[in-house]
Amino acid sequence: MIWTKSKPSQNAPATDPQAAPPAHVAIIMDGNGRWAKSRGLPRTAGHKKGADSLRTVLNACRSAGVRYLTIYAFSAENWKRPTDEVSDLMQLLQHYLHKELDEMHKNKVRLRFIGDISKLNSKIVESINEATQLTAGHTDFNFTVALSYGSRQEMVRAVQSLAKKVEAGEIKAGDIDEDMINNALDTNGLPEPDLLIRTGGEQRLSNFLLWQSAYTEFYFTPVLWPDFGTEHFTSALQEFAKRERRYGTTGEQT
Ligand code: FPP
Repeated sequence: MIWTKSKPSQNAPATDPQAAPPAHVAIIMDGNGRWAKSRGLPRTAGHKKGADSLRTVLNACRSAGVRYLTIYAFSAENWKRPTDEVSDLMQLLQHYLHKELDEMHKNKVRLRFIGDISKLNSKIVESINEATQLTAGHTDFNFTVALSYGSRQEMVRAVQSLAKKVEAGEIKAGDIDEDMINNALDTNGLPEPDLLIRTGGEQRLSNFLLWQSAYTEFYFTPVLWPDFGTEHFTSALQEFAKRERRYGTTGEQT
């Protein structure tokens, strides 16, 4: 099984300026709508500017030695937004994938998608499959996009797939352990996030990576996503370097 829990020893002591960066950063990119509203612009303008921030942060991750970036681009609950906004977001995503794919492929970035892809339109599904297949062999950097994603829905799908195996007599209910659940989740093959950043001032997970973030460090900032740049990302990494990750052990043991 490829799922790995980062070892506490990977992180140098809090005061070490050479502290190892988080291997995996997850981001809830919140605040696009407020950014646009405060400028008298349509919400879509905030999403467009948010796509620029994403480009910046992807580069900042690579420069800092982060190897996995997972973003919450569109939640299972975002389908309830006005149809115009949903369709603008889908178009933006399609455009982004089309525009960035060659560059990502050249830079050996592996692209993955998590979430209920079956709800997306066929053109996007086509782009997603193309991007996934084209970059499947890359290992330099791992970029995962959560689309039509909800952690509870992901867990329901995982439980159903394991229950089917029990029904078929392939496994016994008592055989089900953490590894099996990890492997049944959309995030199978990804390490757990070390650091989760949420912009926009709210301090909640909003159904993002609930199982996977059991030992993740959280960083909440009031900065709106379209304003989030390299300097803000660096501040998050500096804060992460100060955290002592104990995984249930005592401070002395770590
Ligand atoms: C939350 O802000 C943001 C989203 C629901 C969409 C995130 C999408 C992007 C940043 C676009 C770029 C992504 C890709 C993959 C092209 P909000 O609209 O809820 O903001 P608000 O809380 O201020 O209303």
